[in-house]
Amino acid sequence: MSGAGDDPRDSTRGRDEPGSGDAWSSLADTFVDQAYPSVKGRVRTFVLHHQLTEQLPPPPASVLDVGGGAGNQSVPLAREGYDVTLLDPSPAMLAKARERLAREPAMVRGRVRLVQARGEDAVEATGGRRFDAVLCHGVMMYVEDPGPLVAALCDCVAAEGLLSVMALNARTLAIRPALERRWSDALSAFEASGERGVLGVDTRADTVEELSQRLRSHQVEPLVWYGVWLFADWMALDAADAEEARAIAVVELEASRRDPYRGMSRVFHLLGRKRASHAIG
Ligand SMILES: C[S@@+](CC[C@H](N)C(=O)[O-])C[C@H]1O[C@@H](n2cnc3c(N)ncnc32)[C@H](O)[C@@H]1O
Repeated sequence: MSGAGDDPRDSTRGRDEPGSGDAWSSLADTFVDQAYPSVKGRVRTFVLHHQLTEQLPPPPASVLDVGGGAGNQSVPLAREGYDVTLLDPSPAMLAKARERLAREPAMVRGRVRLVQARGEDAVEATGGRRFDAVLCHGVMMYVEDPGPLVAALCDCVAAEGLLSVMALNARTLAIRPALERRWSDALSAFEASGERGVLGVDTRADTVEELSQRLRSHQVEPLVWYGVWLFADWMALDAADAEEARAIAVVELEASRRDPYRGMSRVFHLLGRKRASHAIG
């Protein structure tokens, strides 16, 4: 049986040069083994997947998952029949994706191609291919300047294709310090442009309005935006059994779609459609 790493579609092998500096090598285990399986992690996966699949064209449409990490979105999409390219600069995260793919049936593995590159270089790294959908979830907060990443994401979307971005919400940065009774941090957070995130890394925040404007300037028209989690961010819910975890996810999905709840989420999920080719000047 060949794992994704032995697959000709895996173009990441041999690119993990010593000293290349993988910022995610120390975070990959925490993220994959602790964040995803937590109740909040499961809410994130459930809610994002629902919101995304409502807009995605049916399989076998092509999907580029930029900063796709361990394949948390890519693998379920490949199981549904999508033709997925997972692009990520981190050898540690790609190794996690490879491990996960090795546990999938050959048919699913065969639908996923791994590419080691930064999102900013996605056009060159994918040979200028245009995809029916481009995802970029939980990455925008780790880049200092969103401009080059947004430009590359929009370039990789085919005419009338979908772009899906999940980013940190600059409008709600005061909530977490306030809930932790860090009042002075909460006060400064009203004017802050980022925060020290839960993984202990500094993160940068966006607003729906500014990110929408950036998409428009690259021929992508915003369609809809959602929250992703709310109560699971505010409460310690990890004692929940499977039944309660399901109930939480359903409540969070509903909250993610409605005002004022969606605007209170610590992250937002923005979807847009690339203009038709005749409309692109
Ligand atoms: C929080 S994880 C998100 C993984 C996945 N998208 C998800 O939603 O579960 C962030 C990922 O962004 C990747 N990343 C960091 N900087 C990036 C960049 N400039 N371009 C593309 N990916 C990047 C990291 O390697 C990591 O895998």
